[in-house]
Amino acid sequence: MNLSVTNPWTDPASLEQRIKELLAQMTLAEKIGQMCQANVGDSYVHDYLADGVRSGAVGSVLNIVDVDVVNQLQKIAVEESRLGIPLIVGRDVIHGFKTVMPIPLGQAATWNRDLVRDGAHVAALEASTAGVNWTFAPMIDISRDPRWGRIAESLGEDPLLAGEIGAAMVEGYQGDDMSAIGTIAACAKHFAGYGASESGRDYATTNIPENEMRNVYLRPFKAAVDAGVATLMTSFSDIDGVPATGNEFLLRQVLRDEWAFDGFVVSDWDSIRQLQIHGLTATDRESAFEAANAGVDMEMHGDAYLNHLESLIADGKVDAALVDKAVGNILRIKLRLGLFERPYTDPATLPPIASEHALATARRAALQSVVMLTNEHHVLPLQQKQLDSIAVIGPLADAPYEQLGTWIFDGDAQFSVTPLQAINTLVGDDLEVRYLQAMETSRSRDTEGFDEAVAAAAESDAVILFLGEESILSGEAHSRADINLPGAQAELVRRIRSAGKPVVAVIQAGRPLTLANIVDEVDAILFAWHPGTMGGPAIADLLFGIASPSGKLPVTFPKMVGQVPIYYNQKNTGKPPSPDTIAHIDDIDANAPQLSLGMTAFHLDAGYTPLFPFGHGLSYAAFDYENLRLSSHELRMGESITVSVDLTNTSDMAANEVVQLYVRDLVGNVTRPVKDLKGFQRVYLEPEERITVSFELHTDDLAFYGRKMQLITEPGEFHVWVGGSSEAELMSEFRIIQSE
Ligand code: BGC
Repeated sequence: MNLSVTNPWTDPASLEQRIKELLAQMTLAEKIGQMCQANVGDSYVHDYLADGVRSGAVGSVLNIVDVDVVNQLQKIAVEESRLGIPLIVGRDVIHGFKTVMPIPLGQAATWNRDLVRDGAHVAALEASTAGVNWTFAPMIDISRDPRWGRIAESLGEDPLLAGEIGAAMVEGYQGDDMSAIGTIAACAKHFAGYGASESGRDYATTNIPENEMRNVYLRPFKAAVDAGVATLMTSFSDIDGVPATGNEFLLRQVLRDEWAFDGFVVSDWDSIRQLQIHGLTATDRESAFEAANAGVDMEMHGDAYLNHLESLIADGKVDAALVDKAVGNILRIKLRLGLFERPYTDPATLPPIASEHALATARRAALQSVVMLTNEHHVLPLQQKQLDSIAVIGPLADAPYEQLGTWIFDGDAQFSVTPLQAINTLVGDDLEVRYLQAMETSRSRDTEGFDEAVAAAAESDAVILFLGEESILSGEAHSRADINLPGAQAELVRRIRSAGKPVVAVIQAGRPLTLANIVDEVDAILFAWHPGTMGGPAIADLLFGIASPSGKLPVTFPKMVGQVPIYYNQKNTGKPPSPDTIAHIDDIDANAPQLSLGMTAFHLDAGYTPLFPFGHGLSYAAFDYENLRLSSHELRMGESITVSVDLTNTSDMAANEVVQLYVRDLVGNVTRPVKDLKGFQRVYLEPEERITVSFELHTDDLAFYGRKMQLITEPGEFHVWVGGSSEAELMSEFRIIQSE
């Protein structure tokens, strides 16, 4: 299928000239119209919407996924509005359209840029069939708090990983040329800092000092801008007293002045009017004033711009030139999308929904997203030949909708293949499969079904428990304060354990869970996030060793919720803990002086280490890292070194490994993290194969924002590690020397 078209607006000079010409013809009301996005939900063209489009008062719509309705509205925009400016049509296509990929956090666990890019492209192709030409993704909010329901939509806790995976998503949605058929504009959100909502409560206040904002939260956004993302969305949250939607520092100073972003910024849903609820403004008019001056180009859903921008300009409160700039930014993206040349959608020009390619991509993504957290005595992979029967137990073994996860407006559970279905297909008649749901939902407290489940376990040679969270337990406004397995699931695990059979837990969830209460009760844990449409076959292949797990955690798993926030790239503090300086609450001697407890940064009841660190993920293969070497132990500013390691697959199974490079800058103008991910590569090794993996490290890769908020690389000592997790042990050192 040839999906390419020629975009006449690739030449920047003609593009800017065209924008100028359009602006010159537009009335102020038409300009403001371009800055307004109307929502229509699932309803059909309301007269007022058609009228609004006809009069030029609506520049964008969201949430229409009926291609005929979109085409009708585009026809009104193009043929009946005075200037014929087409609409940009937005929709939350977050991890797939009808075919659903793993939740974004699961996609980050693949550490596979190419695969993530392919998944976003599949989503763009499918969404395009509905006339959607703009998705509100990727969400690249750094997330260090698993209580926050939206961590599911995030790419985890690390700025480099989130930036690279986010950039791959942008490339997948937008392609090389946004005007090609089947590509859509992306939107990096939520600018910025939303993931730091206090106590993980959605929409709560965030307090992020500028240095932390720049060194952590803004880095993925810079990567998305560098990847050419068309749009950005503001965050709902209040940052240091100035909500993001009215935040001039972020929207003007950083985004436009420092990064030279030339796409447009959309508010979040009604977030301009919410400036009043935050207490920043007293009226909608003041909210429109703050947002426009801060640099929000388009208002999603609210009507503050529609009702007040004109009078704000008349009163000299908002500069007319500022409106021209905002409208220019929006027109630039509409032109780059090729909407003026090709406003209508013909689904026949696109591949069918849930095509073989789409399902295969979803399956690969699910397979690579699963992280094997534990595997005692190599209970996995299950040896089909050595088993006569297995028990498949739990509320998420056969739940086609739940495995899709959050934010699946258009996701279609009829395409889902569940783990139970896939296991049955895979084992055929060779193995008896006893299935018991045991609990109505993941939240059930009712233990009535447990006796029967234990009996089934006792009769079987092995048990696979499908545990976790239903999709409704994560996502926007679905935060939890307790992140244990919900309902009576821990009790179910204990009861099943009593049957005395090998027990494997497959956990599907939208966030890291605290698993300390079950980790020793099961022999292996596969953490599958919400794996999407093809989660079932992926999980079955992993359980039976058709493929090896290769996912790695994009976020730290705490032992208990009181450790949150806990993340690998923390600062050292002045009193760093070590095994010798900590005590456990149960070991406190009533007669000992208090000082014997150790005076370092730890919890008396949890120590200082997580349950599973960032980057962790086991394999059926065994990997040996050796010979960490540097091309030089000294480099000058502007130079690079090569960091290499030999990696051997010492097992008899072929598998993928994600090789990770971490650096510590020992002394900084501001304190630097104890480890900072600087590179990663997903590599494939045949049994017994040995390869060399090399990374280039340039002094620019070691830059950070110092006290003066300028990006600097400083001379001095660095430590470098390469390995299979953030607890990599192979370490070396180098030094940057001042150029003469
Ligand atoms: C969310 C955005 C989303 C928008 C439109 C908001 O509530 O925060 O991420 O894109 O709704 O659905």
